[in-house]
Amino acid sequence: MAYRIQETCQGIDWDAVYAIMDSVRMASHSLEQVRLAFENSYRVVFVFDGGELIGFGRAVSDGAYEAAIYDIAVRPERHAGGLGTLILDTLHAGLEGMDTILFAMPGVEDFYRKNGYAKMLTGMAKFARPQRMREKGFTD
Ligand SMILES: CC(C)(COP(=O)(O)OP(=O)(O)OC[C@H]1O[C@@H](n2cnc3c(N)ncnc32)[C@H](O)[C@@H]1OP(=O)(O)O)[C@@H](O)C(=O)NCCC(=O)NCCS
Repeated sequence: MAYRIQETCQGIDWDAVYAIMDSVRMASHSLEQVRLAFENSYRVVFVFDGGELIGFGRAVSDGAYEAAIYDIAVRPERHAGGLGTLILDTLHAGLEGMDTILFAMPGVEDFYRKNGYAKMLTGMAKFARPQRMREKGFTD
């Protein structure tokens, strides 16, 4: 199937983005914060089928050798159709030569393994809101 891939935030319907995030239980920030996060990101990817937004993702980066991937989501009825991989591949294409890290949601690790990621042995994180630790899969 031919999808349309958009790599800017121009004209994005943030309500549609937020509705997808909500449908996959990723709406843990406000809509305005989500819009800011995408607009301030180094790379963004939005995938459309016709006029319908069906998935997206973003990456932050220093523009030299480090990047981090966030907010990968696909509309639930489109899961397992290769879209998540398409979103990651499109992000990676603009991060060539960079090391890339991410937080996998608990249970989604195999999706990232299949896309070349491995678990970190010494990865650490400090969260602004302590409840985010559990959402991100940290136990202590
Ligand atoms: C995770 C997500 C982005 C994957 O997108 P997708 O379009 O369903 O994934 P793909 O079809 O590209 O899958 C690629 C491979 O990963 C596997 N995979 C996909 N989702 C998986 C999951 N949740 N757990 C384990 N494996 C998964 C697929 O079976 C497929 O394997 P195969 O190549 O052997 O057939 C999508 O399911 C989603 O939006 N989930 C809800 C939000 C979420 O958890 N986002 C990740 C935040 S860290």
